Amino acid sequence: MSVHLPTALPGCVLRAWRESDRADLVRNANDRRVWRNMTHTFPHPYTDADAQLWLAIAADPGASIQLAIEVGGRTAGGIGAIAGEGIFSATAQFGYWLGVPYWGRGVGSAAAAALAERIAVEQLFARLEAQVFQWNPASMRVLEKAGFTREAALRSAATKDGQLIDTVLYARVLRRPGGPPASSG
Ligand SMILES: CC(C)(COP(=O)(O)OP(=O)(O)OC[C@H]1O[C@@H](n2cnc3c(N)ncnc32)[C@H](O)[C@@H]1OP(=O)(O)O)[C@@H](O)C(=O)NCCC(=O)NCCS
Repeated sequence: MSVHLPTALPGCVLRAWRESDRADLVRNANDRRVWRNMTHTFPHPYTDADAQLWLAIAADPGASIQLAIEVGGRTAGGIGAIAGEGIFSATAQFGYWLGVPYWGRGVGSAAAAALAERIAVEQLFARLEAQVFQWNPASMRVLEKAGFTREAALRSAATKDGQLIDTVLYARVLRRPGGPPASSG
């Protein structure tokens, strides 16, 4: 897919990660308020070595999609869709994050809507899914505006920040059951 994807928000684009993103990546990612809403694969503290590892992963994403969110020419965060394996290969885990200075400006909504729509148009997956922690209503709203539907409350599904918490499962279904799993499949 295109590695330079405009969004509805002026100055906000999605593009491939670059080595030169490293400093902005550490600055934005190394924040407990971001970490608290992410899965266990997102480290804290977030070091330069973590950023190097991430840039290597993002450079070779396989069937997954990993893009930087750029705002006004600076790297603000990341967004992606991680391809499932085996029988789940037509499902992708949709996720995103922004550095705190970028919160509350419509960036998350614009980025999620743009990527979800591009995946839908290109039929890259049959289903996009996201599990949101119960304390993260902003992310639930981002998903709803990107065409996701709340499917379930998963009680005591995750452990985060020392607590057992409920998560909410959201999905956007791009292909109905019965058909081929993907345009290339
Ligand atoms: C989640 C996140 C990406 C949201 O991005 P953002 O750019 O701040 O979000 P937006 O400015 O686009 O606003 C999202 C919506 O949430 C709403 N919102 C914000 N805080 C809210 C709250 N406490 N309760 C309810 N709605 C809230 C906003 O009003 C907006 O909805 P609207 O457009 O209908 O008014 C950002 O907060 C973030 O990176 N958080 C840490 C990582 C994370 O949570 N990732 C997602 C894991 S599932």
